[in-house]
Amino acid sequence: MSQDPILALVERQEWLAPVQKTGEQFVRNAFEAGGPTGRHVKDFLHGVWLGHPLHAAITDVPIGSWTVATVLDALEASNNDEYAPGADAAVAIGLVGAVASAAAGLTDWSETQGGVQRVGALHGLLNVGAAALYTASYVARKTGHRAGGRALAFVGYGVVLASAFLGGALSYTQKIGVNHSPDVDTDLPEDFIAVCRVDDLPEGQLSQQDLKGTPVVLLKRGASIKALANQCSHLGGPLAEGQLEGDSVVCPWHGSRFCLNDGEVLNGPATTPQPAFDVKLEDGNVLIRRRTLS
Ligand code: FES
Repeated sequence: MSQDPILALVERQEWLAPVQKTGEQFVRNAFEAGGPTGRHVKDFLHGVWLGHPLHAAITDVPIGSWTVATVLDALEASNNDEYAPGADAAVAIGLVGAVASAAAGLTDWSETQGGVQRVGALHGLLNVGAAALYTASYVARKTGHRAGGRALAFVGYGVVLASAFLGGALSYTQKIGVNHSPDVDTDLPEDFIAVCRVDDLPEGQLSQQDLKGTPVVLLKRGASIKALANQCSHLGGPLAEGQLEGDSVVCPWHGSRFCLNDGEVLNGPATTPQPAFDVKLEDGNVLIRRRTLS
C-alpha cells in the first residue's frame, strides 16, 4: 500500500478490480492475437524505438490542446467570437491526441500489477470521462450550442487535471516508466574489478555475480563472457532468473528482451537499454568494468 494518502485511498477501491482484470486481459489478448505484428505494435506503443515511454510524450498533445481550448473558450465567452474556430480546432486536436495517448498508456498499464495497476485504472477511467465530455462539447459546438459546449469542455478540463495528477503520481511516486537499472556511471569505478573465477561460471547458463554491491548477470560460452546489470530497467526484475534466447536474455517478470552484447532493448515493455559491461580474463579470474562510450 502506498504511503501517499491519496494513492492509498485509490488502491483501496475494490470496485476497480474488475476493470483491472478485464482491461489487462483485453489488452494482452489483442496483442497476442496479432502474432509477430502484434509484438511489433506493442513495442512501438511502449516506446522501445524512442528510448523512453511513448505515453509520457503523447500526453502533451491532449493536455496542451485542451489547455489552449480552455483559454480560447474563456476569451470567446467574453464576447470575442473570433476565438471560436481556434477553440473548436484545439478540442478536436486534443481528441485525436487522446486516442493515441490512450493506446500507448493502455499498453504500458497492462504490464503493471496490484495497487499501481489500480491507480492506473482510475487514471484511464478519468481520461475516458474527459474524452467523452470533450466529444460531447465538440458536437454541441457544431450544432449551435456554443455555451453548452464550452461548459462541457470546462468540466472536461477539470477531469483532465485530476487524471494528470494521478499520471504524475504513477511516474514520480510509483516509478512507472522510469529507469530501474542501476546507475553504473556514478555507482561504479571505471577500472576492471574481479567478480569471480572463470570456473565458477556455468557453461551456457545465466548466473549472477556481485560487482561492488551491484548485481550483474553473466553468460559464459567457451572463451566468450557477456555481462549486463542484473536489475531490469523496466521494473527491476532479476535477469539472471530469466530465459536465454540466443544472444539475448528475457526478463522473468514482464518479458522484456535485452541483447547480451550491448544491453539494447529488443522487446519491451522496457524502453531503456540495460547497462552492459566490458569483460576480460586474467589469471583465471573474470574482471568486468562499466562500459564507457569511446
Ligand atoms: S521488470 Fe518488467 S520486464 Fe523486467
